[in-house]
Amino acid sequence: MNSLKKIAAAAGLALAVFAAPPALAASAQQEAINLDFSFEGPFGTFDRAQLQRGFQVYREVCAACHSMSYLHYRNLGDEGGPEYPEEQVKAFAAEATVVDGPDSEGEMFERPGKPSDPFAAPYRNEQEARLINGGAYPPDLSLLAKARAGFHGTINQFINGVGGAEYIYSVLVGYEEAHDDGEDHGTLSYNPYFAGGWIAMPQPMYGDDVVYADGTEATIEQESADVAAFLMWAAEPKLEERKRLGFQVILYLIVLAGMLYMVKRKLWSDIDH
Ligand code: HEC
Repeated sequence: MNSLKKIAAAAGLALAVFAAPPALAASAQQEAINLDFSFEGPFGTFDRAQLQRGFQVYREVCAACHSMSYLHYRNLGDEGGPEYPEEQVKAFAAEATVVDGPDSEGEMFERPGKPSDPFAAPYRNEQEARLINGGAYPPDLSLLAKARAGFHGTINQFINGVGGAEYIYSVLVGYEEAHDDGEDHGTLSYNPYFAGGWIAMPQPMYGDDVVYADGTEATIEQESADVAAFLMWAAEPKLEERKRLGFQVILYLIVLAGMLYMVKRKLWSDIDH
């Protein structure tokens, strides 16, 4: 009895600790806007057309400042991703100029990119990136969708997910031009979805920043949702496989439980009880 009580008390404490709203941590940061992405929920999958549109936005807008070093051009043709045909993947890769070498004379040389190359970065190094962006560093976007949370608090995250894609979406649509808190923030822009509220990234999109290859209307909301979905895929390319496997494991456990129950009935059927 005593130990039961202890366990109950410990469980209660654990719940209290984990479920407590992070009142201090949240400070100025606003909860992300909740979108229904196709990849959410237990059976969610990526929308191929959306991934292609998202890549188009990254390539034409974000790639000017943000690297995606963990992605290789060939990934654009991978099953479960944007699934571009091979020729298209080669063409995207060939747009980049890659420094390779050394050649037989010890010299480095430049060549067009190949599908096996990582995405080309806009700057040579962090120092150059900071110099051009007024001291701020545009983070690599490969894993950002998994590294940030749009929703906070255990119960909220249990219901809505962590919301990395929603966070990116909200930052992109969340700029507020006329915000004055009486302090001088230099060239920073006000964005309540960014931690601290003041961001060094100038508003990157206003709508019609790209002309979609599939004819979709390029509103700022559409562009932002598409690039957020693309970044989610980049950060978790095996999401569909993980969900499929999870479902199969649950199904297996249900079948196994049923069989064990029948075995138990058979074994005990001769015994009075
Ligand atoms: C002109 C350069 C520039 C462009 C273009 C740009 N960004 Fe940024 N971005 C930055 C900089 C600089 C920061 C760092 C801001 C800071 O630390 O205050 C940043 C920060 C961010 C953040 C917040 C990162 C964090 O740490 O939480 C996100 C999300 C983001 N960018 C996404 C994008 C996306 C998506 C695009 C394309 C639609 C894009 N950016 C285009 C320069 C740029």
